[in-house]
Amino acid sequence: MKKNLIRLLLPTTLVMGMATVLWAAVPPPVVQNNFIYDTKFASFAVPDCLGCHGGTDPAQDKQNAVLVTLHHNLINTTVPAVSCYNTAAVTPTTLATGCHVLIPAPGGGFTFQDFRNCLNCHTGQSPHHMSTYAANQDCVHCHGKAIDNPNDGHYIPTYAINTDSTKGGVTPAPHGRSIPDPANPGQTIITQGCAACHQANTAAVPPIYGNNDTHHGTNIGSVLAPGGVGQCSWCHDTTSSSGSSIRGCESCHGVRSLHNISFDTTNANNLGVVVPGNEDPGFGHVGANWDCQGCHSSWNGTAVNPETAATNPSIGSLSTTVVTANTATQLIINGGSFTNTDPLGTTTYKPVVTLIKDGNTVTLTPFSFTSSEVKVLLPATLQQGIYELRVDKSGTFSNLTKLIVAPRLTVNTAVLSASTLTITGVGFGSTPTAQTQALLGVFVDAAQATVVSWSDTKIVATSPAFAAGKTATVKTLYGPVAGTIFNAGPKGK
Ligand code: HEC
Ligand code: HEC
Ligand code: HEC
Ligand code: HEC
Ligand code: HEC
Ligand code: HEC
Ligand code: HEC
Repeated sequence: MKKNLIRLLLPTTLVMGMATVLWAAVPPPVVQNNFIYDTKFASFAVPDCLGCHGGTDPAQDKQNAVLVTLHHNLINTTVPAVSCYNTAAVTPTTLATGCHVLIPAPGGGFTFQDFRNCLNCHTGQSPHHMSTYAANQDCVHCHGKAIDNPNDGHYIPTYAINTDSTKGGVTPAPHGRSIPDPANPGQTIITQGCAACHQANTAAVPPIYGNNDTHHGTNIGSVLAPGGVGQCSWCHDTTSSSGSSIRGCESCHGVRSLHNISFDTTNANNLGVVVPGNEDPGFGHVGANWDCQGCHSSWNGTAVNPETAATNPSIGSLSTTVVTANTATQLIINGGSFTNTDPLGTTTYKPVVTLIKDGNTVTLTPFSFTSSEVKVLLPATLQQGIYELRVDKSGTFSNLTKLIVAPRLTVNTAVLSASTLTITGVGFGSTPTAQTQALLGVFVDAAQATVVSWSDTKIVATSPAFAAGKTATVKTLYGPVAGTIFNAGPKGK
């Protein structure tokens, strides 16, 4: 009700506001504390990929189980199975060409192209925006509620756009307009639009790009590019007479999502919790009146906004991305805006952690949280698999991260009878197919045994190399696990 009233009042009420622009409190470009660093896919380095994709730096940890598993799990997703090496002699590698690239070695023979450099294979175009989710305009799936999805029915104003500040106009423009800089005579600044704050800084490492480049860099709209999805009209209001208005942007940057981007600052009044309207200026959209003015140049109201409720949480990193099934584990999630009050300080929004797999959601209540850190106990009942993990505040959820719950790999016994070895344990997975047998199986002294039968808890294999006292290694999808071979005791006891 209150919300609708404000909407109706907007075109008239705001005419009063003709405040002087007090710019330069935090000069552009915006801080890069939360959400995605404003650059293009090709400017990310391997550690950046790993920051979201889990595991340790492969330069240090060559057995990065997360990535090995992730990729080797793809082997059997095609028919015939993916070739282990790139047989097509074309790069970049795809599932169709086969994976590891062989390159002639100086002294004859071949060596592998560096397969720990993601960008050797994931070249050029952003794979994120060739995904089915992107093609279906489900941008929120990965980006979270800091944006809206086109076509999800969210509120987009229909009143006339008025960007003319001399006529009380407060509607932001996609870019903004240039005005004389009150602080630096003779210079201009941008106001009343996204480029008032979100600007490029190509000297930064990696470079910070402007809004045209961050968006066009996704390749969305470039349907001619291989795998390209989408239309220019997903973002540009091609129906407006001016060619491009904020209405096009509002199909993802709706009033609700824009008015709920706010982060905790060093404002001493409320450390550890986000209080919209009572934060330092320059760290979000609704932290202080100054923020409002970046978009609504001549706004002269207060920083109390009725649309501001649960602010958009942003996950930066997880303390671990792989945990062991059937083991309670403490997970620490770092990021921003995990807890906030409404601008009046009456309601406090608290986070829960959601884990989604196969359409089933597990909701966990953290045992401790601040605006930048959530601590949660993953229960021992969590089953093996790959989960979508998000922080959720009353339905306003964060960007997507993934949590791998791996089986607890154990060899309990490895008992030899003649040349037949029976291994019992946990987490062996299902029988390796013919195609993966070079990678997965039972090994002793680097020799591969012949598998007779294989289940998650029991393997029977034969090999002339088996002998008591030697170590049998089972290479599973989740990594290797070893046990010492013992001779079977005398029977019939
Ligand atoms: C599969 C997950 C995923 C989906 C779905 C997705 N994105 Fe992204 N998006 C990312 C990731 C990861 C990045 C950063 C790396 C990159 O640029 O590929 C990104 C970057 C971006 C950026 C640049 C942001 C910046 O700060 O540099 C824009 C703009 C963007 N995406 C728009 C979209 C739009 C529009 C859609 C829906 C049509 C969409 N994305 C769907 C994962 C996704
Ligand atoms: C800001 C976080 C983020 C960064 C940085 C990032 N990714 Fe992703 N990526 C995601 C998310 C979220 C998904 C979707 C969930 C998934 O498949 O794990 C995804 C999906 C993917 C996919 C599968 C796309 C599909 O078809 O569904 C590939 C391939 C990929 N990323 C490669 C990379 C590479 C290579 C880099 C570094 C250049 C990188 N990513 C950097 C978050 C990120
Ligand atoms: C030897 C080539 C190669 C390298 C190196 C490589 N990938 Fe991939 N990756 C692939 C192929 C091929 C796919 C299958 C999808 C495709 O064709 O893009 C894939 C798929 C993925 C997926 C999606 C997995 C899924 O379940 O659909 C992610 C995420 C991913 N890679 C991330 C990375 C990251 C992060 C790195 C660097 C640490 C990396 N990749 C290095 C070839 C490679
Ligand atoms: C008053 C300055 C200001 C203006 C004007 C502004 N923003 Fe922001 N915006 C910020 C700050 C600061 C952040 C937080 C950045 C961070 O913490 O990484 C932010 C974050 C965002 C985010 C979250 C994703 C990200 O990259 O952090 C989106 C989406 C966004 N802004 C969209 C817009 C749009 C669309 C416009 C124009 C309609 C706009 N902004 C205008 C200051 C501004
Ligand atoms: C994912 C959203 C998105 C898509 C899709 C998109 N654009 Fe843009 N475009 C933007 C943004 C954001 C800006 C920067 C707006 C500003 O600052 O004025 C921009 C700016 C522009 C500009 C102004 C000049 C410039 O580069 O700053 C032109 C022209 C343009 N786009 C054309 C296109 C065309 C043609 C397509 C389709 C091939 C397209 N855009 C697809 C988001 C998008
Ligand atoms: C189809 C959805 C979509 C449309 C339409 C769209 N954007 Fe975005 N925009 C995104 C996504 C996704 C992000 C990245 C959010 C994040 O960091 O996770 C983004 C981020 C931004 C940011 C924050 C800086 C950055 O690059 O991350 C600004 C500013 C912005 N958009 C401006 C615009 C403008 C101006 C328009 C209209 C010309 C526009 N956007 C249209 C999806 C869209
Ligand atoms: C990132 C840009 C941005 C910032 C910062 C911002 N707004 Fe807005 N606001 C918008 C946009 C876009 C609209 C929709 C205007 C339109 O489409 O004509 C809007 C609309 C409004 C409306 C009318 C709401 C309605 O239902 O139509 C009010 C009131 C308002 N803003 C107040 C504020 C206040 C108060 C602040 C600071 C606490 C603020 N805004 C900060 C972008 C912003």
